[in-house]
Amino acid sequence: MNDRNILIAGNWKMNKTPSEAKALVRELAQRSGQGDFTCELLVCPPFTSISSAIDAAQSSALMVGAQNLHWEDSGAYTGEVSGPMLKDLGCSYVIIGHSERRQYFGESDDTVSKKISAAIRHGLYPIVCVGETLEQREAGQASDIVLGQLAGALTGFTSHELRSLVIAYEPVWAIGTGKTASNEQAQEAHNLIRNHLSDNFGLDFSKSIRILYGGSMKPGNARELLEQPDIDGGLIGGASLKADDFLGIAACAK
Ligand code: PGA
Repeated sequence: MNDRNILIAGNWKMNKTPSEAKALVRELAQRSGQGDFTCELLVCPPFTSISSAIDAAQSSALMVGAQNLHWEDSGAYTGEVSGPMLKDLGCSYVIIGHSERRQYFGESDDTVSKKISAAIRHGLYPIVCVGETLEQREAGQASDIVLGQLAGALTGFTSHELRSLVIAYEPVWAIGTGKTASNEQAQEAHNLIRNHLSDNFGLDFSKSIRILYGGSMKPGNARELLEQPDIDGGLIGGASLKADDFLGIAACAK
């Protein structure tokens, strides 16, 4: 056992209009209030639905975050959204460096690092995503890729600055594919990440940081994954879009 509180986070990606978000968050807020949930619950809607999600989550324990942010606070960056904007809306967390952002939108270790800095500056908890592709795993490079992404994201920060950090290990081959990492594969990667944190920032720090698993997590496989000693929650895509599935996963976090 450890003192890390399990975090079940929904990454809605580019799904749910403001009115759809309101309906889903209302249902989640109501049902999670009635249930016996010991974990923290977070949803990360698209920017345009954050406000209605926050309204609908009022007076519940459900938290709302964002899927991305810009590293500057304001300026001539057409189409971008900054940390102060998210903070002012009432966001508590922000996902940074998701593999879809790395793959389709040119996110690099350097932009990930700058975004972590922006999140910390504005009191947003960064959820920093790392993970290897199938080709990289098959070539025996999974550990090097994950460690390289971690170093690229976290080098230069102090453990004090990173105290609100959350890491999400998301093997790219498991995202949206229905293929989940086995419990052993996931635990091995989480342990590698925790050891990296320990080597670079100290043992106590490494024990305090939550490492989420992401990639086709569902009510049917969540319990075993969440029982692994270094898995402290989930970053859930597809299964976070339906209240039954999302709460089904949360119910496994005991
Ligand atoms: P998935 O997505 O649960 O649909 O595999 C996870 C993620 O991309 O965060």
